[in-house]
Amino acid sequence: MTPRPPRESVHKAGAYHGSVPKLPETARNPLAFIAARWTPNPVTVRRAALAALVMSVLIVVTGGAVRLTASGLGCPTWPTCSGDSLLGTREMGIHHAIEISNRMLTYVLCAAVGWAIIAIRAMEPRRTGLYRLAWAQFWVVVGNAVWGGLTVLTKLNPYVVSLHFLLSAALITVAVLTWQRVPEGDASPRPLVGKPVRQLGQLLAAAAAVLIVVGTLVTGAGPHPGDSSGTYKVQRIDVDWKTIAQLHADFAWIVVGLTIALWFVLRAVDAPPGPQRRAAELFAVLMGQGVIGYVQYFTHLPAVLVDLHMFGACLVWIATLRVLLSFRERPLAEPGEGAAVTSAVAPAQGVGAGQAGVRDTAGGRDRQPVDAARVPLADQDGDPLSVRG
Ligand code: HEM
Repeated sequence: MTPRPPRESVHKAGAYHGSVPKLPETARNPLAFIAARWTPNPVTVRRAALAALVMSVLIVVTGGAVRLTASGLGCPTWPTCSGDSLLGTREMGIHHAIEISNRMLTYVLCAAVGWAIIAIRAMEPRRTGLYRLAWAQFWVVVGNAVWGGLTVLTKLNPYVVSLHFLLSAALITVAVLTWQRVPEGDASPRPLVGKPVRQLGQLLAAAAAVLIVVGTLVTGAGPHPGDSSGTYKVQRIDVDWKTIAQLHADFAWIVVGLTIALWFVLRAVDAPPGPQRRAAELFAVLMGQGVIGYVQYFTHLPAVLVDLHMFGACLVWIATLRVLLSFRERPLAEPGEGAAVTSAVAPAQGVGAGQAGVRDTAGGRDRQPVDAARVPLADQDGDPLSVRG
């Protein structure tokens, strides 16, 4: 009987007459290619995650500028700008220039998110959860880019415009999570405050979300639809503008009230300084945003103030998420595992690069060595403890 060839040889390129050209490694898996050659330090990764967050806020502000300069239909169609032209022409005027610049900024946002993905993928050891978060940012950007196209195709339908803003808030959410998770460990979250306090925080976050959603409805009913060419009559949300603006301001007061309540509760239960500081930060941001809100309301919505208010809305949401995230810590190893290292104390205790595996006395297992790249650089507040060169 003729012996069968080894199984894998059947599939090898070149086993047949026409050999299949082998792609270079860079093209087959560029991320793995980079990861095999470069290990970023945690500070670099955190900066990359922060860059993605900054870009996700910046694009809200520039998107606001498009609407507030009435340039929303500066490119009358999508995905091209006009007809067959991807970029349109200079003769199309200033509104076109503003709109196309904002479209181009999407690529810069993608580059920032791409940088975060690459840096996180190259971390040692790999952080699967964090890597997924980074990719989630990319997919939300893609989704919102398509949704942005839909705002043009629906001639700035106010509900579509509203969702465009809310998808940006979703992107900011994932970007904040990614940024805050970099210096933490991957063990299950460990609460730093009691359940009732966490529930108060969740209530606050829910109220802030409603506040933002109602804000987008105020915009949808308001006098800045995003186009002033007169070619199209841009649809408006059919509610009394003053009434919805009043409701929006009422929610702002509810959020302010809940924030003050949370701050007092945190002090009363002697919570760690991190959550207390985050609650105070949120209060400060809310005050600034509230002042802008009232001034723009009484000064008939000057474009610059409205754009600043959009920027403020992003900051309010970021500060709210940071409050929630400050309620827990993520240690490197599960609590109870021998010489478990918590995110807050590891660097201070000198647990670091090249430490040998530790025998887990409780479970009788060998723990993985703690790698320098995994040692968090943040305190309970998420602020860096040290900066490695
Ligand atoms: C303090 C927390 C506040 C937050 C987080 C917030 C958030 C927002 C958001 C997300 C929008 C929609 C932006 C857009 O879709 O383009 C908005 C619009 C608006 N907000 Fe606020 N807001 C706050 C407070 C206030 C207050 C106190 C007022 C006072 C009346 C106010 C007045 C307005 C007005 C008039 C608009 C519509 C602007 C336009 O026509 O585009 N806001 N707000």
